[in-house]
Amino acid sequence: MVATQVPVLETLRHASNARVDAMLSALFEARPATAPRLEAAMRHGLLVGGKRLRPLLVYLAGRALGADDEALDAPAAAIELIHAYSLIHDDLPAMDDDDLRRGQPTVHIAYDEATAILAGDALQTLAFEVLASTPHPRLGSLVRTLATASGRDGMVAGQALDLDAVGGHPEVDALAHMHAHKTGALIEAAVRLGGLIAVAETDPRLEALSRYARTIGLAFQIHDDVLDVTGDTATLGKASGADAAREKPTYPSLLGLEGAQRKARTLIDEAIAALAPLGENAAPLADLAHYMIKRDH
Ligand code: IPE
Ligand code: IPE
Ligand code: MG
Ligand code: MG
Ligand code: MG
Repeated sequence: MVATQVPVLETLRHASNARVDAMLSALFEARPATAPRLEAAMRHGLLVGGKRLRPLLVYLAGRALGADDEALDAPAAAIELIHAYSLIHDDLPAMDDDDLRRGQPTVHIAYDEATAILAGDALQTLAFEVLASTPHPRLGSLVRTLATASGRDGMVAGQALDLDAVGGHPEVDALAHMHAHKTGALIEAAVRLGGLIAVAETDPRLEALSRYARTIGLAFQIHDDVLDVTGDTATLGKASGADAAREKPTYPSLLGLEGAQRKARTLIDEAIAALAPLGENAAPLADLAHYMIKRDH
């Protein structure tokens, strides 16, 4: 497959971000807030900054299988809502205890810990409200896909394994297992949600999308671990060096920086190979795979 040029991906990313940001902002407009301070905290965690890569995956995967953008808006917003909730809780003192996120004070610093917990809770349920409010013949599959990827077999499981691993020296396979859950699950859900808008659950192209997403998901978290070592706080918008400071096992800590970078590159090659059944329509997904490990934040 011939990948398109990076500026094309940038154009697609801007268009995707504009769509999803409009959708997310609208959730807070034209309605009186029942709990204004809670809603301010939700907006802070959701609307300020962020690359919006998971919504982009929803749009690119959906379009690759023939979906219309309008039908992809709700799942794109829903996955970003879950992601934003996961970041607010990830930053809490009881978890990674971080003060900076997306170049801003984290939600528990800007507000308080209890409000941050509640803002995360409310963003999570809002994700399902948004998804379930959009009629679709496969709504049950869409909701189940998002729920499974978010919970005890997905992101939350990964976060639990992450906390269990602090101070330890796991095997690389155990680290991959943790990364697959804490980060890979939502990335896989993003492409499956996009795909499911267009095709039935039995369509084999969904499995190709999943294979692609599992490999870019691992590469994405490896690169996040690499940036924690090589990046600076201002560019990252979050504290660099935080993993070592908290004794988090990471790919660089197990394989060395170059070993980790090599592993991420190998995964990107595998991801692009997995797109073969989708043909030329998947070229933007191939570009995005490259971007996943080239990004500086
Ligand atoms: C950060 O995700 C958390 C990880 C899973 C590594 P992103 O790097 O996508 O964060 P934002 O949304 O751009 O802030
Ligand atoms: C976070 O992983 C994964 C989730 C939020 C589910 P990290 O803890 O490495 O993410 P950052 O580095 O704080 O963004
Ligand atoms: Mg964490
Ligand atoms: Mg963290
Ligand atoms: Mg990290």
